[in-house]
Amino acid sequence: MSALTVYEAIGGEATMRKLVESFYDKVAADTLLRPLFPPTFDEVKERQFWFLTQLFGGPRLYTERRGQPMLRARHLPFPITTRHAQAWLRCMASAMADADIPTPAREAMLQRLTATAYHMVNTELEEEHKGI
Ligand code: HEM
Repeated sequence: MSALTVYEAIGGEATMRKLVESFYDKVAADTLLRPLFPPTFDEVKERQFWFLTQLFGGPRLYTERRGQPMLRARHLPFPITTRHAQAWLRCMASAMADADIPTPAREAMLQRLTATAYHMVNTELEEEHKGI
């Protein structure tokens, strides 16, 4: 018997879809994050669904469709500060609650995503302006 992946443990595709839907609803309502995204979320939503599925042990949908993730490079066109990473993680934590992801899986996922989110930070201009 093999150990369950996080993807399987949270309920696979159906839960992942719920999570991504709820996450982008929150991003759309977030005044700091919203301006970085295009008018509609359809495309990024699908790509995020592929990415999270793969990251948490499901089918390798992202790599099959988009190649190597190289996420930091893909985010370089957007000025991402520590505050953006924090806002992104807040939206994700709240979407996980909406999707009824149980606490142990939620903590494991958030821990992994926290590292990724801070890795995307590519400018601290805002912080410099505030003199931090
Ligand atoms: C730290 C804060 C973050 C911000 C502000 C941010 C913002 C963005 C933006 C603006 C896009 C492009 C949308 C578009 O062109 O339609 C994008 C794409 C994407 N983001 Fe993020 N992101 C963040 C963190 C993350 C993290 C932590 C992950 C992974 C879990 C992630 C996964 C993705 C993926 C998979 C895409 C699509 C890439 C592709 O073109 O294939 N992002 N993000």
